[in-house]
Amino acid sequence: MITNERDLSIDFCGVHFVNPFLLSAAPPTDDLDMVRAAFEAGWAGAVLKTTSVETEKVDLVYPMMSAVHYDGHRIMGLGNIDLISEHHIDVVEKRAATLKREYPDRVVAVSMMGSKKEEWQELVRRLEAAGVDIIECSFSCPQGSMGEEPGAMLAQSLEATERVAGWVKQAAKRCPVVIKITPQVANIVKVAQAVKRGGADAICAANTIPSLMGVNVDTFVPYPDVQGRSTYSGMSGPATKPITLRTLAEISRQVDLPITATGGPVSWHDAVEMMLVGATTVQFCTAVMHYGVDIIDDLRDGLAFYLEDKGFAKPADIIGRALPNIVNHGELSRDVKVISALIEERCVKCDLCYIACRDGGHQAIKLRKTDRLPEIDREKCPGCRLCVTVCPADALTMVKK
Ligand SMILES: Cc1cc2nc3c(=O)[nH]c(=O)nc-3n(C[C@H](O)[C@H](O)[C@H](O)COP(=O)(O)O)c2cc1C
Repeated sequence: MITNERDLSIDFCGVHFVNPFLLSAAPPTDDLDMVRAAFEAGWAGAVLKTTSVETEKVDLVYPMMSAVHYDGHRIMGLGNIDLISEHHIDVVEKRAATLKREYPDRVVAVSMMGSKKEEWQELVRRLEAAGVDIIECSFSCPQGSMGEEPGAMLAQSLEATERVAGWVKQAAKRCPVVIKITPQVANIVKVAQAVKRGGADAICAANTIPSLMGVNVDTFVPYPDVQGRSTYSGMSGPATKPITLRTLAEISRQVDLPITATGGPVSWHDAVEMMLVGATTVQFCTAVMHYGVDIIDDLRDGLAFYLEDKGFAKPADIIGRALPNIVNHGELSRDVKVISALIEERCVKCDLCYIACRDGGHQAIKLRKTDRLPEIDREKCPGCRLCVTVCPADALTMVKK
């Protein structure tokens, strides 16, 4: 690890984080020693995996993981059919107290979920008594739904979201309340507004994307195969980052609540992008499940160097910086025409730009007879940028016409 003395601390809902990076509610936070190891490695906080009252039955199924791989890369998207933690509040309240005692400068948040008002409020009281810093409420859990439709997630109902957030807030005397929503709704802003009306302090956005991870074409059984049958997974990991960025941006632009981001980050760069569209802190899960807790070294170093390079004093200075640059389609400039241009020395003559433009663009690229270098027809090229996106060698760029 490169030692960097820069202060990366940030405040979220009045809670001090030594850096903006924490573990989200998932297997890496479902074991005391694993959270200890993460804190030793340098993570600022952890959201302990969603807990419930002792009477809640948590009926897990194995195997529970599958993944989409793409073009030689493992885990573009990770699918899980996990449920909430098997460890109920009696175990989790002790773990939280232990962690707070051992790591007073780290943030111990706990994710919780009830199935009726008394349960939500009992969980809040017990977690506050245990000394947790933040209470995160899972409104996007596939289990124990209190949404309006059978099987729907709580955050898919605006009415239920506002009502349950209100119950939790009513019981919380000390801790900020964060509501974890789902991106699987028609209008994320309305959900965020319901969270705010319920009185919660912040939003965790968002969560996994309901998905069918793939189908075995020999057995006809989708993944994961549980003795010949399957079900829908929640997909996390890199494939979900663009969805998370849009979710964060939409909420940040229209609802005045702090946000902790979750969904897709694997690097400091991803985290910075999430902060630029409004996140205050960034939660990690799949990246840690894939590469381990030590990725925190890269996250801290990368953020520190980015801030240094761009001349920002502290992480809070970058929050929302990209938001003014997001407008509706109708507000985008039509005045300046751009076309693509070749950087000859980089071209590897793979023909991909030519093929893409021929069959999916505007037939504006020809291959020069003498050396097969792409030639852009300035009149035909409308500047769609497809060629730039397919080029594996960064040999194409956009220039003003
Ligand atoms: C195996 C697994 C179990 C999870 N369990 C929970 C959970 O109990 N409660 C919860 O709020 N989120 C749960 N999540 C969702 C993660 O906290 C996180 O929001 C999601 O994985 C997206 O972030 P990522 O792309 O960094 O993984 C789980 C995710 C995985 C992969």
